[in-house]
Amino acid sequence: KTDRLLQILTGQAVIPVVAVDSIQEGVGLARALAKGGLKAIEVTLRTPAALEAIEAIVVDVPEAICGAGTILKPDDYTNAVKAGAKFIVSPGATVELLDTAKKSAIPFLPGSATPSELLAMLQEGYEVLKFFPAEQSGGLSYLRSLAPVFQGVKFCPTGGVSPDNARDYLALPNVVCVGGSWVAPKALIKDGAWDEITKLAAEAAGLSAD
Ligand code: 3PG
Repeated sequence: KTDRLLQILTGQAVIPVVAVDSIQEGVGLARALAKGGLKAIEVTLRTPAALEAIEAIVVDVPEAICGAGTILKPDDYTNAVKAGAKFIVSPGATVELLDTAKKSAIPFLPGSATPSELLAMLQEGYEVLKFFPAEQSGGLSYLRSLAPVFQGVKFCPTGGVSPDNARDYLALPNVVCVGGSWVAPKALIKDGAWDEITKLAAEAAGLSAD
């Protein structure tokens, strides 16, 4: 499971974190992002349409690798897996979520933002973690300070990551990829401005450390 997750996260510099209000928005968005090179996306369960959208993306946009985010409780996890999500992302972790993850074939990316949380995740066997909210929790310098202590741990920072700082995050040795919503702005989704989203995705896909 960890290998599969790492394969997804190392395959892409930026994972779009998206919220959609309808199946149509989800499908259009996933297609536009994949066309720009961002096949893996995190559809957050922050809208009532999220699960239906994941279900539709899995069927209608086979080129996409659709994950689910904002997983806060076990039901969210199992519902997202039922909808077909290929990976599961949480801003944190609870004992219940970790139990659910253990029983699931679908890989889990839990969130962790403090040394004690990191230790707890390592104890559970998780070495690939979301770091949220990245900028607000201390950003680049915070992550840099964690690297020598938590060797081998890899992060996907999200929250406040943008085209302005993404390269700096990606240059850190303990960052595997970054996540962000800037590639899928609400206004463009509402307008169905898929070409513009594809352009944003292509720019993000081209981001690298140097
Ligand atoms: C997330 O859930 O990862 C964040 O909401 C994304 O943060 P951003 O909107 O600042 O990119």
